Amino acid sequence: MTAMLSANLWHTSMLAVSVVLGLQASVAPASASFQIAAGTEAYAAQCAACHGGDLSGSNHAPALKGAVFRTAWAEKPSRLLYSRIISTMPLTDPGTLAPKMVLDITTFILSVNKQLIPESGYQKADELNSIPIKRVD
Ligand code: HEC
Repeated sequence: MTAMLSANLWHTSMLAVSVVLGLQASVAPASASFQIAAGTEAYAAQCAACHGGDLSGSNHAPALKGAVFRTAWAEKPSRLLYSRIISTMPLTDPGTLAPKMVLDITTFILSVNKQLIPESGYQKADELNSIPIKRVD
Protein backbone atom coordinates (compact mmCIF):
# COMPACT_ATOMS: atom_id res chain seq x y z
CA MET A 1 0.00 0.00 0.00
CA THR A 2 2.79 2.39 0.93
CA ALA A 3 4.63 1.44 -2.25
CA MET A 4 1.49 2.07 -4.29
CA LEU A 5 0.92 5.42 -2.64
CA SER A 6 4.44 6.68 -3.19
CA ALA A 7 4.31 5.46 -6.79
CA ASN A 8 1.14 7.51 -7.17
CA LEU A 9 2.81 10.55 -5.68
CA TRP A 10 5.72 10.10 -8.08
CA HIS A 11 3.35 9.90 -11.04
CA THR A 12 1.44 12.91 -9.82
CA SER A 13 4.62 14.98 -9.58
CA MET A 14 5.69 13.75 -13.03
CA LEU A 15 2.30 14.88 -14.32
CA ALA A 16 2.98 18.32 -12.85
CA VAL A 17 6.40 18.33 -14.55
CA SER A 18 4.78 17.30 -17.86
CA VAL A 19 2.27 20.11 -17.57
CA VAL A 20 5.01 22.63 -16.82
CA LEU A 21 7.02 21.40 -19.80
CA GLY A 22 3.91 21.61 -21.98
CA LEU A 23 3.90 17.86 -22.72
CA GLN A 24 0.61 16.27 -23.65
CA ALA A 25 -0.89 13.94 -21.06
CA SER A 26 -1.96 11.73 -23.98
CA VAL A 27 1.64 10.66 -24.62
CA ALA A 28 1.98 9.52 -21.01
CA PRO A 29 1.63 5.81 -20.26
CA ALA A 30 -1.78 4.70 -18.99
CA SER A 31 -1.73 4.79 -15.23
CA ALA A 32 -4.15 5.09 -12.36
CA SER A 33 -2.56 8.28 -11.11
CA PHE A 34 -2.85 10.07 -14.45
CA GLN A 35 -6.47 8.98 -14.70
CA ILE A 36 -7.23 10.10 -11.16
CA ALA A 37 -5.53 13.46 -11.84
CA ALA A 38 -7.69 13.89 -14.97
CA GLY A 39 -10.78 12.86 -13.00
CA THR A 40 -9.96 15.33 -10.23
CA GLU A 41 -9.77 18.15 -12.75
CA ALA A 42 -12.98 17.15 -14.55
CA TYR A 43 -14.80 16.73 -11.23
CA ALA A 44 -13.77 20.24 -10.17
CA ALA A 45 -15.14 21.67 -13.42
CA GLN A 46 -18.33 19.58 -13.76
CA CYS A 47 -19.45 18.41 -10.34
CA ALA A 48 -17.91 20.37 -7.48
CA ALA A 49 -20.38 23.27 -7.70
CA CYS A 50 -23.13 20.98 -6.41
CA HIS A 51 -21.33 18.08 -4.71
CA GLY A 52 -18.62 20.18 -3.04
CA GLY A 53 -14.93 20.58 -3.81
CA ASP A 54 -14.12 17.74 -1.42
CA LEU A 55 -17.13 15.54 -2.40
CA SER A 56 -18.80 16.14 0.94
CA GLY A 57 -22.01 17.41 -0.64
CA SER A 58 -23.91 20.66 -0.18
CA ASN A 59 -27.45 21.93 0.24
CA HIS A 60 -27.87 21.15 -3.44
CA ALA A 61 -26.54 17.62 -3.71
CA PRO A 62 -25.57 14.54 -1.67
CA ALA A 63 -22.01 13.63 -0.64
CA LEU A 64 -20.06 11.37 -3.01
CA LYS A 65 -17.79 10.00 -0.31
CA GLY A 66 -17.99 8.70 3.22
CA ALA A 67 -19.99 6.12 5.13
CA VAL A 68 -23.47 7.02 3.89
CA PHE A 69 -22.35 7.07 0.25
CA ARG A 70 -20.48 3.78 0.55
CA THR A 71 -23.35 2.08 2.39
CA ALA A 72 -25.71 3.11 -0.38
CA TRP A 73 -23.36 1.77 -3.05
CA ALA A 74 -21.85 -1.20 -1.19
CA GLU A 75 -21.69 -4.43 -3.19
CA LYS A 76 -23.07 -2.76 -6.29
CA PRO A 77 -20.89 -2.98 -9.39
CA SER A 78 -18.72 0.09 -9.97
CA ARG A 79 -20.28 0.16 -13.42
CA LEU A 80 -23.55 1.24 -11.86
CA LEU A 81 -21.88 4.37 -10.48
CA TYR A 82 -20.46 5.11 -13.94
CA SER A 83 -23.90 4.57 -15.52
CA ARG A 84 -25.62 6.75 -12.94
CA ILE A 85 -23.17 9.56 -13.68
CA ILE A 86 -23.17 9.32 -17.46
CA SER A 87 -26.95 9.15 -17.76
CA THR A 88 -28.09 11.56 -15.02
CA MET A 89 -25.21 13.99 -14.31
CA PRO A 90 -24.50 16.86 -14.38
CA LEU A 91 -28.07 17.34 -13.17
CA THR A 92 -28.64 20.43 -15.32
CA ASP A 93 -27.14 18.88 -18.46
CA PRO A 94 -27.22 15.07 -18.31
CA GLY A 95 -25.72 12.98 -21.08
CA THR A 96 -23.33 15.69 -22.25
CA LEU A 97 -20.05 14.33 -20.85
CA ALA A 98 -17.68 12.21 -22.93
CA PRO A 99 -17.44 8.55 -21.80
CA LYS A 100 -13.70 8.93 -21.19
CA MET A 101 -14.29 11.91 -18.90
CA VAL A 102 -16.99 10.03 -16.97
CA LEU A 103 -14.64 7.06 -16.60
CA ASP A 104 -11.93 9.39 -15.23
CA ILE A 105 -14.40 11.01 -12.81
CA THR A 106 -15.76 7.62 -11.71
CA THR A 107 -12.21 6.36 -11.08
CA PHE A 108 -11.48 9.50 -9.06
CA ILE A 109 -14.64 9.04 -6.94
CA LEU A 110 -13.82 5.35 -6.40
CA SER A 111 -10.29 6.21 -5.29
CA VAL A 112 -11.51 8.86 -2.85
CA ASN A 113 -13.75 6.13 -1.42
CA LYS A 114 -10.75 3.89 -0.83
CA GLN A 115 -11.50 1.43 -3.61
CA LEU A 116 -8.40 -0.18 -5.13
CA ILE A 117 -7.70 1.03 -8.66
CA PRO A 118 -5.63 -1.17 -11.00
CA GLU A 119 -2.18 0.31 -11.54
CA SER A 120 -2.91 0.95 -15.23
CA GLY A 121 -6.27 2.60 -14.48
CA TYR A 122 -9.45 1.74 -16.38
CA GLN A 123 -9.52 1.95 -20.17
CA LYS A 124 -13.17 0.97 -20.70
CA ALA A 125 -16.33 1.25 -18.64
CA ASP A 126 -16.90 -2.49 -19.19
CA GLU A 127 -13.93 -3.16 -16.93
CA LEU A 128 -16.04 -1.80 -14.04
CA ASN A 129 -18.75 -4.46 -14.52
CA SER A 130 -17.16 -7.05 -12.29
CA ILE A 131 -15.75 -4.72 -9.64
CA PRO A 132 -18.13 -4.41 -6.67
CA ILE A 133 -17.85 -1.31 -4.51
CA LYS A 134 -16.50 -2.34 -1.12
CA ARG A 135 -17.82 -1.12 2.19
CA VAL A 136 -14.47 0.02 3.60
CA ASP A 137 -14.13 2.27 6.66
C1 HEC B 1 -26.55 21.17 -10.67
C2 HEC B 1 -26.11 20.37 -9.53
C3 HEC B 1 -25.38 19.08 -9.80
C4 HEC B 1 -24.26 18.88 -10.59
C5 HEC B 1 -23.48 19.92 -11.40
C6 HEC B 1 -23.93 17.49 -10.47
N1 HEC B 1 -24.81 16.86 -9.64
FE1 HEC B 1 -24.77 14.89 -9.08
N2 HEC B 1 -26.50 15.13 -8.05
C7 HEC B 1 -27.16 16.32 -7.89
C8 HEC B 1 -28.38 16.09 -7.09
C9 HEC B 1 -29.38 17.16 -6.66
C10 HEC B 1 -28.41 14.72 -6.81
C11 HEC B 1 -29.50 13.97 -6.02
C12 HEC B 1 -30.76 13.91 -6.83
C13 HEC B 1 -30.61 12.96 -7.95
O1 HEC B 1 -30.20 11.84 -7.68
O2 HEC B 1 -30.90 13.31 -9.10
C14 HEC B 1 -27.22 14.14 -7.43
C15 HEC B 1 -26.89 12.80 -7.34
C16 HEC B 1 -25.68 12.28 -7.79
C17 HEC B 1 -25.25 10.91 -7.58
C18 HEC B 1 -26.00 9.83 -6.82
C19 HEC B 1 -25.52 9.86 -5.38
C20 HEC B 1 -26.12 8.76 -4.55
O3 HEC B 1 -25.42 8.25 -3.67
O4 HEC B 1 -27.27 8.41 -4.78
C21 HEC B 1 -24.02 10.79 -8.13
C22 HEC B 1 -23.14 9.55 -8.15
C23 HEC B 1 -23.69 12.08 -8.71
N3 HEC B 1 -24.72 12.95 -8.48
C24 HEC B 1 -22.51 12.35 -9.35
C25 HEC B 1 -22.24 13.56 -10.01
C26 HEC B 1 -21.05 13.78 -10.81
C27 HEC B 1 -19.93 12.80 -10.97
C28 HEC B 1 -21.16 15.05 -11.32
C29 HEC B 1 -20.24 15.73 -12.29
C30 HEC B 1 -20.09 15.06 -13.56
C31 HEC B 1 -22.41 15.60 -10.83
N4 HEC B 1 -23.04 14.68 -10.05
C32 HEC B 1 -22.85 16.89 -11.09
C33 HEC B 1 -26.77 17.56 -8.36
C34 HEC B 1 -25.72 17.79 -9.22
